[in-house]
Amino acid sequence: MQTLNAKNLTYSYSKKTQPAISKVSLEIKPGTLTALVGPNGAGKSTLLRLMQGQGSPDKGEITIDGEKLLKVRNKVALMPQRSSMNWKFPITVERLVALGQIKKSRFRKDSPFQIKELISNPKTWINKCCEIEAAMQRVGISNLAKRRLDSLSGGQQQRALLAKTLMSPSKFFLLDEPCSALDPPARDEFLKIIRQIADAGMAVFISSHDWGSSLNAYDKVVVLDKTVIAIGNPKEVQNKLDDICCLKEKNLCDCD
Ligand SMILES: Nc1ncnc2c1ncn2[C@@H]1O[C@H](COP(=O)(O)OP(=O)(O)OP(=O)(O)O)[C@@H](O)[C@H]1O
Ligand SMILES: [Mg+2]
Repeated sequence: MQTLNAKNLTYSYSKKTQPAISKVSLEIKPGTLTALVGPNGAGKSTLLRLMQGQGSPDKGEITIDGEKLLKVRNKVALMPQRSSMNWKFPITVERLVALGQIKKSRFRKDSPFQIKELISNPKTWINKCCEIEAAMQRVGISNLAKRRLDSLSGGQQQRALLAKTLMSPSKFFLLDEPCSALDPPARDEFLKIIRQIADAGMAVFISSHDWGSSLNAYDKVVVLDKTVIAIGNPKEVQNKLDDICCLKEKNLCDCD
């Protein structure tokens, strides 16, 4: 079974600043849903970008089954944080989703989606359309295919971005706060879709600000605050966080 391994990662944006993440180690396995939680500025987006090969860590390494990440980067797809997107860009949902396929062709010289091949073999074009349709169906937005991105609700936009990400041939999906801007029922619905993706054999790693009982929806939880504070199943992590809070409260009491 393929495993993505991050070992002892440290990364600073510049020599003058403190590391954004420090000595971070974790493992992501196919068929699992893992949450990455931590406060603003904890380094969640930084970690996800490194895990997708955007930049190299100052220390440590990322491998998939022992192979260096940069050699197998196409196995990892990243859905970026909502705030980094230009939602006003004039594009329809189906065209946005199709862009996920273009990325694929950058990694695969033999991609069926090279223009020349498309012209010479209309069947591949039909296949491509089927894949786009399948990705949209999977996240429940087929009916929005012709709509412009800027005419959608926040939840619909997040689904469109997820469908684009799913067009990647990857095994490991890193989703940066996909549930931000979603109301609780939309969040539950989104998590159901993501659980299906994990059950289909993908590894899904999701950053989130959700604490408490919503973490029970995950197989594993990683708590990050520049470094890994806690890691394990939701119950283990909750107990560990309770212990940390108790210690902090105790220290405060001792100070008083
Ligand atoms: N491009 C950048 N250049 C310089 N510093 C950055 C850059 N991006 C992030 N940082 C810094 O790195 C640290 C970690 O930021 P990061 O965005 O990874 O945190 P985060 O956990 O994703 O936060 P949020 O929950 O707000 O999205 C912060 O101190 C931030 O200011
Ligand atoms: Mg972030």
